[in-house]
Amino acid sequence: MSNPEFRPGLADVPAAESGISFIDGKRARLEYRGIAVETLAKESFFEETSWLLLKGDLPRQKELADFDAALKEERCIHFRLLDALKSLPENGHPMGALQAGTAALGMFHPMSNVLNPANNWEAVIRLIAKLPTIVAAFHRLRVGHEAIAPRQDLGHAANFYYMLFGKEPSAAVTRVLDACLILHAEHTMNASTFSARVTGSTLANPYAVISSAIGTLSGPLHGGANEEVLDMLEEIASAENAKTWLVDAVATKKKIMGFGHRVYKVKDPRATVLQDLAEKVFAETNRPYAYNIATTLESAANEILGPKGIYPNVDFYSGIVYQNLGIPKDLFTPIFAIARVVGWLSHWLEQISNNRIYRPEQVFVGKSDQHYIPLEQRT
Ligand SMILES: CC(C)(COP(=O)(O)OP(=O)(O)OC[C@H]1O[C@@H](n2cnc3c(N)ncnc32)[C@H](O)[C@@H]1OP(=O)(O)O)[C@@H](O)C(=O)NCCC(=O)NCCS
Repeated sequence: MSNPEFRPGLADVPAAESGISFIDGKRARLEYRGIAVETLAKESFFEETSWLLLKGDLPRQKELADFDAALKEERCIHFRLLDALKSLPENGHPMGALQAGTAALGMFHPMSNVLNPANNWEAVIRLIAKLPTIVAAFHRLRVGHEAIAPRQDLGHAANFYYMLFGKEPSAAVTRVLDACLILHAEHTMNASTFSARVTGSTLANPYAVISSAIGTLSGPLHGGANEEVLDMLEEIASAENAKTWLVDAVATKKKIMGFGHRVYKVKDPRATVLQDLAEKVFAETNRPYAYNIATTLESAANEILGPKGIYPNVDFYSGIVYQNLGIPKDLFTPIFAIARVVGWLSHWLEQISNNRIYRPEQVFVGKSDQHYIPLEQRT
């Protein structure tokens, strides 16, 4: 290719053929393997949806029971991994601990051959099962508590909550947390998924694949936005101030966190489900003031940013829900990761089933044919 067209951010450039999820950004439609995400958030649960994403179809009863049992069996982490987490700085971001912990996990389970489906499936189970344990353990350790061992009698979402707080969540909280995991599990070719596929295409082991994706997710333009939404709502401070703040932010070309999406030009369907879930949690807990600010900001933004196709995305309401469950702000993105690991792994399996190493082109804009000037002659 002599003069390839360069599209910043690879916008509209297909990076893979994929059958895992589908978005219609104009109709606010997101499907996992053909099923609307709203339906899954309502009818399914994280383990079942994970199987659907990984395997392509809903599981039969025995398949689901075996998958669930295997996940429960794999939840514990090696004591040396726990020691490694203990030695990380307590003020460091938990996404760093998760990325390091995931890479370290690969050292406990070396895999030089990723072309063996049985080994790969074991790694898939291990990663989905152990990531929540790493996140919860690092959190407990950094605040000076002992890590809490996982329980086998709880579902994935409830066990994560239990490992964080040492108490079982109510049925309503479990439902909300589980639905949040479903909503974050997969989202076509986003930056972290692309990252997972690029790393996977080198036939690197799945722990390297997932740790690459975790690093990519950590940025504020991707998974990190949900934390920044809460900072923004704090800065706005009152519902009365929301519109004035927004007008000023737009005039000064500030990015409004939790708004805008490369694909959705309407409200992200996940934001709609999350808002609904938020209302349900607030019926049990209390309605936080930040939520009033958020809904007022959304109304003002509909007027001001709506005509440009900029509406709330998944991150706009997720932080408010998590905060209301007592989850610290810097764990929001790690929670995103423990859900999205399923999407990353589904893409990894798809990638290596028909692999070609990623090796894109560049448009060269640098100098050429330069002379080497010896150091003493450089002015
Ligand atoms: C998600 C996001 C990175 C998508 O980026 P993108 O597709 O590259 O879109 P761009 O950043 O090029 O934005 C296109 C236009 O919309 C504007 N825009 C996009 N998102 C905006 C936002 N959140 N607030 C204000 N303006 C926004 C841009 O300023 C740009 O305007 P211009 O054409 O006048 O310069 C972007 O919307 C964003 O930064 N959002 C905030 C962070 C966030 O919530 N991320 C979570 C995503 S799930």
